[in-house]
Amino acid sequence: TTHSTEPTATTESTERTDGLAAGTTHAGLQAWVDEVAALTTPDEVVWVTGSEAEWTRLTDRLVAAGTFTRLDERKKPNSFYAASSPNDVARVEDRTFTCSAEEKDAGPTNNWMDPQEMKAIMRGLYAGSMRGRTMYVIPFVMGHLNAENPMFGVEITDSEYVVVSMRVMARCGVNVLRRIEELGDDARYVPALHSLGAPLEPGESDVAWPCSDTKYIVQFPEERMIWSYGSGYGGNALLGKKCYSLRIASVMARDEGWLAEHMLILKLTSPQQQVHYVAAAFPSACGKTNLAMLAPTIPGWTVETLGDDIAWMRFGDDGRLYAVNPEFGFFGVAPGTNETTNPNAMRTIERGNSVFTNVALTDDGDVWWEGLENEPAHARSWKGEDWTPSSSELSSHPNSRYCTPISQCPILAPEYDDPRGVPISAILFGGRRKTTIPLVTESRDWTHGTFMGATLSSETTAAAVGQVGVVRRDPMAMLPFIGYNAGDYFNHWIGIGKDADAAKLPKIFYVNWFRRDEDGGFLWPGFGENSRVLKWVIERIEGTAAAVETPIGHVPTPESLDLSGLDLTPEQLDAVLAVDVDEWRAEIPQIEEWFARFGDNLPVQLRVELDGLKARLGL
Ligand code: GDP
Ligand code: PGA
Ligand code: MN
Ligand code: MN
Repeated sequence: TTHSTEPTATTESTERTDGLAAGTTHAGLQAWVDEVAALTTPDEVVWVTGSEAEWTRLTDRLVAAGTFTRLDERKKPNSFYAASSPNDVARVEDRTFTCSAEEKDAGPTNNWMDPQEMKAIMRGLYAGSMRGRTMYVIPFVMGHLNAENPMFGVEITDSEYVVVSMRVMARCGVNVLRRIEELGDDARYVPALHSLGAPLEPGESDVAWPCSDTKYIVQFPEERMIWSYGSGYGGNALLGKKCYSLRIASVMARDEGWLAEHMLILKLTSPQQQVHYVAAAFPSACGKTNLAMLAPTIPGWTVETLGDDIAWMRFGDDGRLYAVNPEFGFFGVAPGTNETTNPNAMRTIERGNSVFTNVALTDDGDVWWEGLENEPAHARSWKGEDWTPSSSELSSHPNSRYCTPISQCPILAPEYDDPRGVPISAILFGGRRKTTIPLVTESRDWTHGTFMGATLSSETTAAAVGQVGVVRRDPMAMLPFIGYNAGDYFNHWIGIGKDADAAKLPKIFYVNWFRRDEDGGFLWPGFGENSRVLKWVIERIEGTAAAVETPIGHVPTPESLDLSGLDLTPEQLDAVLAVDVDEWRAEIPQIEEWFARFGDNLPVQLRVELDGLKARLGL
């Protein structure tokens, strides 16, 4: 088969379970599954159907294993608490590889290893790695099953936690498998292999969170294939999400003329009932989920949600760029989520059917995290220790997460179910910067907007293992997710603009909710108040809002932002909108250094943009 795990394929029939056909009539898929089973030697093979009975069986099994604690039905129905091993709490960027045939195709921002060398290492790790466990086969589709070209995947995993989470995050199960079978050789699916790397010897009892100290998250871009080993954490193990919908899909998008981006999608309706769709790319833990579910504080404006993490964008017949959210759930940062910051997330999770990982478990069978109302007098921390408000440690890991069905979101836009997607009016790029970057800046055109994206910077967060708070370049918020050479990716963005009718392209803006005052406090209140920035963005598109031209782009005049009812001093407003030439001059060497990494692969247009910026800064 094309997706061989072993140089010589072995075949072994899978068992019948769940009352459904244990296996598939799709010969290529069956051969791959047999081959993986022969390599990893699980006790049994189970094909995931997506049924309610299956959910109950899996969650019961996770409760019995000590991985899940069932929450009180009256508080969070059909919902579960899990705590991971402390060494498995986030994406592992230093263990993530793009194994293209040629090193130059991985580019300067990805880890690379020769695919044959990587496969040899990983075959060694996978050999017997599912011993004592069940191997699950999860047929899934990213996006709609009835899309013109459904984007199938099949994840093999030995983790029940992964199966349960995948069922929330992607459309999974027997309907997907039947469609793959109907399409036969025309079905395009990404084979995605995952193992915890924690085999069990006969009689050995399991731990609550099995995983391995050795971790590999590997994309084979030419083969459109994913191999993951050693981690149970979402971004490392739910392979439909980051690995497929961003890393592999970005390669498909380059080859086919579309965009796979780390973006939320929202629908904004003005008091005059004008509808605009907005996409926004912020690095992990920089505000996508919150903006996607925003509750506007300005009267008459409404926001509805289409997606909170990933957007696939293609040109429609009308020349506009249409976005779909390929996912089926939210995998949201828990800390900071509350009735004030994100009431719509609160409504979504209280409907139940959710998994909470690395938050605190309260004595009355609910979950709690830093920033949530009703702080408990006592709880069990994510580390399994007693926690009280006077504890010196946090109750919840800063990257603790809720995993919840998107269908439960009270403001889900009906267009979410439309496989054609929605036409995007504006793209926002943003990050976490204490200084330098104003609240909002409008780009002059697509190329300038691409420059803003390509030079995007942000402080690192707890969403990836490593130091937190370090400013780094994170192009289009895609640094850990571009599945190929980032210089070629910039070129692809420039090319999208070249081929399009400029008037129909989304307008690009750069935002920063995280600028600080001298005391370290946020200058801008954020969350629902970000609706004021969305309003300005729309009014710029409609040509009604004022702006000042600055060296970096168009920034609101103080009067052009709707600040009615907001307690913000004129000094604070000036500070949050300021374009400080000295701060920007200090930024230039960092951008030069960043661009230098791409050598000849840097599109000349970006070099021209940088030269223009320097000239405007008097450099
Ligand atoms: P995502 O990972 O990009 O989806 O980011 P989230 O929306 O989950 O937010 C990550 C963290 O940033 C959470 O702790 C939020 O409470 C916080 N956050 C989100 N939006 C804002 C904002 O507008 N202002 C401030 N100060 N914090 C925010
Ligand atoms: P986030 O998603 O962007 O919501 O943090 C998880 C991640 O990017 O790792
Ligand atoms: Mn993300
Ligand atoms: Mn998010």
